[in-house]
Parts: sequence; structure tokens; C-alpha cells
Amino acid sequence: VSSQPIGIFDSGLGGLTVFREIAKILPQENLVYLGDTARVPYGTKSAQTVSRYARQNVEFLLQKNVKMVVVACNTATAFALDELRSRFFIPIIGVIEPGVTGALRATKSKRIGVIGTEGTISSGTYSASVLKRAPAAFVATAACPLFVPLVEEGWWQNEITEIIARTYLNGLLAKKIDTLILGCTHYPLLKNILSKVAGPEVTLIDSAEETARAVAEVLAQKNIMMNSDNSSPYRDYCVTDSPERFRRLGDLFVGQKIHDVQHVEI
Ligand code: DGL
Repeated sequence: VSSQPIGIFDSGLGGLTVFREIAKILPQENLVYLGDTARVPYGTKSAQTVSRYARQNVEFLLQKNVKMVVVACNTATAFALDELRSRFFIPIIGVIEPGVTGALRATKSKRIGVIGTEGTISSGTYSASVLKRAPAAFVATAACPLFVPLVEEGWWQNEITEIIARTYLNGLLAKKIDTLILGCTHYPLLKNILSKVAGPEVTLIDSAEETARAVAEVLAQKNIMMNSDNSSPYRDYCVTDSPERFRRLGDLFVGQKIHDVQHVEI
């Protein structure tokens, strides 16, 4: 049993979709969220740069005495998860393996599509992870760099977003995928448009839910879960740029009011 918090980090706001799912299934846990808003986006940066940021983020969270770290960013997971795991000695969970687990459970035809940032797609991590576990699967991927700014602009249900989504997804859909992994923390917010564009034959996989499940499993396995009777768990939000914008948009991502956003230097 451990009252130490779980640390969750992302390049900015997107990881709040993962934070929300963790808070939903593990309401008794103390949570510290770090949004690296001064250095967002990670999706267009090189592997070396993203790995360095990820390392610094974990070091910051360790100062907050976390018992476990969730890399709630697909780009950081794609580029840095292995290195983080070999460098730090607490459990570290990324968002890619859980997303792949969900996709392999859902697919019937084993034809799987993946969308994400440029960095995530160019890393090849999703394809490698699917093929390692299901060598006969077919994987098609597409980078969708305009989605992150559209989501941050609040254009979740907009016709321009729909046209862009069609343009990005056409190639994947032509390959007859039956499952589509939303391989970026922002994309769950576009679920309505994406499911409209992809059509009813395609199951969308939101890795946030799967990741929260994986977190609960690790806590149980290692016996470091918080007492279920903890009635006042805390939720701390730390950001590396001004808290104002984060607070305003963060409410939309988490689905409830965000308080206590602190500015931190890392
Ligand atoms: N959090 C990033 C991801 O999931 C998207 C935003 C960014 O590019 O930093 O890949």
C-alpha cells in the first residue's frame, strides 16, 4: 500500500485524456500531472530532443516522490520509453503497448490502422509493437499533424476538421482496416468526427482507457495501490509555461474544472 502519488506527464494538455481515465478507475490515488507546455509540441521534434525532455520530466516527477510514472504522450513513448525504463528504477508505463492490446482484442481481420504525430509514425514503434505480438497482422499508418492544433483550437465538431480527417484517413480506409488506433493523446477528442469518417465497420481504439487499466494492473501486481478508503486524494497540475491557457483548455480535456495549476521550472 502506498500513498505516494502516480506521476503522469505529457508535452502539454493531451495527456489529460489519460489522466482523466486514471482518475476514473483509480479515484483513491494521489495524482501529479506535468504538462510540458513551454516545449510543446513534441510531435514534430527529433528523437534526441524528445528523449531529453522525457528524461527531465521523469526527474521532475521523482522529486515529487512518485511511485510510478505514466508517459501520457505517444511521441515520448515512441521515442523514449525504453531508455526511461533502463535509466529509472520505478515502474514506467507508456501509452503504446496498452493501445496495441486494445487493438488486437478488437480486430477481427487483423488489419489495423494507426494515426499519430509525425514523430510517432516515423518512429515505427506502433507497427513494430503490433507485428511483434501478431506477426500475421497488416498495419497501415498515417501522420496527422494538423489534428493537434485543431483540437487545441476547440474545433472538435467542425466541418473543416471533417474535411481534413477525410483527407488523412482516405488512404487507410482504402486498405480495409477494421480497427483504428488513435495514437495521439489529442485524438480521443475528435472521436465523433473520426468515427463518422471511418464508418461503422472500423473500431476506434482510445489508448487512454487501456493505459489506465494497465496502470491499475501494475499497482496491484507490485502491491503499491492506495487504500481504497482514502477520501481526499489530491490532484496536482504542474506546467512549464503559464497556467492560464492550460487551465482554460484543460477543463475541456478533463471534463471538469481544473484547480491548483502551478508553474514549475524543470
Ligand atoms: N502528446 C503528443 C502525442 O501524444 C501530441 C502533442 C505534441 O505533439 O506534443 O503524441
